[in-house]
Amino acid sequence: MSNRTFTMIKPDATEKGFTGAILAKINAAGFRIVAMKMIQLSKEKAGQFYEVHKERPFYGELVDFMSRSPITAAILEKDNAVEDFRKLIGATNPANAEEGTIRKLYAANVGENAVHGSDSDENAKIEADFFFSKLEQF
Ligand code: CMP
Repeated sequence: MSNRTFTMIKPDATEKGFTGAILAKINAAGFRIVAMKMIQLSKEKAGQFYEVHKERPFYGELVDFMSRSPITAAILEKDNAVEDFRKLIGATNPANAEEGTIRKLYAANVGENAVHGSDSDENAKIEADFFFSKLEQF
């Protein structure tokens, strides 16, 4: 799945009405949407998705935030998808994100940072399969 990555438009961006603008930016950067759904995560599901961060001090806050409002989950296709998408979204903390990146434009702070992007091909597949059945991945 080296040409695919997984993203979520997070609750802060949903609440502020940025979903359409973020999707347009993703398309304009050459990514093709090959799966997409808008859903609200339960605390249990948000906790499972971010299980790797379980021991971090911000885990509880992260689970509360990610289950607060609906998110838009999507699988994106493009050559070098994981790396190129991380460039497009910018640094985890929007204060450190480059001008023009999605987090610089739309994120409030390191916790509420508008979008998620997979950090490796392996995690992209795990995360995509967490949200989408085979029949939902085009
Ligand atoms: P994401 O890239 O989706 O993966 C882990 C998430 O944890 C990250 O985005 C942020 O939303 C959140 N996160 C990372 N660091 C912090 C932090 N220092 N304080 C609060 N939340 C954080």
